[in-house]
Amino acid sequence: MEFERCLSRHRDELEWLFMELYQDRAALGRLEAGMQQAWNARSPELKALDAARTADPEWYKRGSMFGMTMYTDLFAGNLKALAQKLPYLKEQRLTYLHLMPLLQMPHPHNDGGYAVEDFDTVDPALGTNEDLAALTAELRKAGISLCLDVVMNHTASTHRWAMAAKAGDKTYQAYYHCYPDRTIPDQYERTVPQVFSNTAPGNFTWCEEMRQWVLTTFHAYQWDLNYANPAVFVEMTKSILHLANLGVEVFRIDAVPYIWKQLGTSCRNLPQVHTIVRMLRMVLEVVCPAVVLKGEVVMAPKELAAYFGTPEKPECHMLYNVSTMVNLWGALASRDTRLLKAQLDALHALPQNCWFVNYLRCHDDIGWGLDEAEERRIGIDPQAHKEYLYHFYEGQFPGSWARGELYNYDPATRDARSCGTAASLCGVEQALEKGDSAALALAVRRDLLLHSAKAYEPRIPMRHCGDEIGQLNGWGYKSDPALAEDSRNLHRSRFDWEKAAQRTVPGTVQNALWRGMEQLRALRADECFAPDAWVTTWDSHNPAVLTLVRRHGTKTLAGLFNFTEQKQCVRLDSAIGVHLPETVWLDAYEARIL
Ligand code: GLC
Repeated sequence: MEFERCLSRHRDELEWLFMELYQDRAALGRLEAGMQQAWNARSPELKALDAARTADPEWYKRGSMFGMTMYTDLFAGNLKALAQKLPYLKEQRLTYLHLMPLLQMPHPHNDGGYAVEDFDTVDPALGTNEDLAALTAELRKAGISLCLDVVMNHTASTHRWAMAAKAGDKTYQAYYHCYPDRTIPDQYERTVPQVFSNTAPGNFTWCEEMRQWVLTTFHAYQWDLNYANPAVFVEMTKSILHLANLGVEVFRIDAVPYIWKQLGTSCRNLPQVHTIVRMLRMVLEVVCPAVVLKGEVVMAPKELAAYFGTPEKPECHMLYNVSTMVNLWGALASRDTRLLKAQLDALHALPQNCWFVNYLRCHDDIGWGLDEAEERRIGIDPQAHKEYLYHFYEGQFPGSWARGELYNYDPATRDARSCGTAASLCGVEQALEKGDSAALALAVRRDLLLHSAKAYEPRIPMRHCGDEIGQLNGWGYKSDPALAEDSRNLHRSRFDWEKAAQRTVPGTVQNALWRGMEQLRALRADECFAPDAWVTTWDSHNPAVLTLVRRHGTKTLAGLFNFTEQKQCVRLDSAIGVHLPETVWLDAYEARIL
């Protein structure tokens, strides 16, 4: 009876969208039965959370939200051990923890867990479903919401569905995109770009057991799911609800723009993707309204707004702010904030329902997706600029302070992305190697400058674990054959607990970064960080300095960020509405809040 009442909130729209997409009433019945089952199985504690959040639907927008991403094994070993490390997370006053994929995966090749063998079971190397439920309960007590990935686009080629498909089971072959010859694959190849240029050419992999070509957008061992088959949507939804009932509060829907394929298109951002995300949102609102969706949409700002849906028919609650991340690194290497400012202006103009997670580093590379039209407008050659940036962060450009590596270099297009930890990309590693204390002090300032600008941005700041203690690149991955081929492993190394212990020792890099980040955390308690604060860029009359103004009620703050190693002078127009000095001098890489 109660479930019926919850379902009635969205029944009409859900049925309408499902039938429009699938014309399959029996499958709709299976979806609703799965929802009812999950609703019945949800614990009283989680139902209480549902009730609290239904009364406070904007909970994830509070200024106090503060996130971190990490790998369970690299940070602590396994889920049980991670629960023991909770004090370290509480010390940072986190409210949100994103654990990298931890569901059953093949070993050793699993794309960092993004090849999933079983969407319902924790990988035995990391623990059990009970450990996960126990951890989420502990985190909840500490006011920390757990985020997990839902790898929507594909399964591991060793998932039981793929194994059944390989064994010739037609039902499961229909879960994937399988073709006996090249006719259809060749048609796709005409319009679908390739994600990885350094793997086998094309988007399809020949499967000898099945004697068919199978669509593999990412790695050959990641088989793309076929969402045109309603069974795939129903099964995936049931698994998502199962995880929600283990206490997961945020789902990061991985690579979501790719999930719908259609001949003659790029197979990215198709309208059906939005139908599926909208249906998922409604399912969650019916069964577990405490849970929110975070989309991984690595696209230009103009593509992003669509993933939020409309206020009446919302899709994702939040998205990654990829373009600010890229532009922050771009501004740092080029000592020029013009592109960053233009990009921030585009983001600030998005409607209020567009809610972003701001970050500098995560488990992935930095892909140099800058706004080419804007680059041309201000006289920057996009290709030359991109090459400058990736060589700079690789440490190969004369005068570069960075230590990093290229990712996915394509000699044909001269395209590449960058890898490395925040501290190493900011110069800490090189300065330590050289024993240059002046360079080290500058590197720490640089690192804090980027974190400050990020924390000043509207919406949720998120940090990659280790940034708070200046974790350096882990070059050791090169001697592990299972990791050596993927340079993203450079910034995926074991958390350095010895370095972490230095966070309380004055005079250490760890202490400087830790204290700097504590100040940023404190800053966000200011009323100007309220969810409905007005945020805009301001003209500094100096491209070396980014100025961001925040206003809430009658209070105004101006954040000034010097992206260069020189002292800089800025002139601020008085129209900000607050008494500010007309000119301000900033030290090298200084972040000043007025
Ligand atoms: C996402 C993940 C990335 C992974 C890819 C394929 O982009 O962030 O790490 O390789 O999806 O699943």
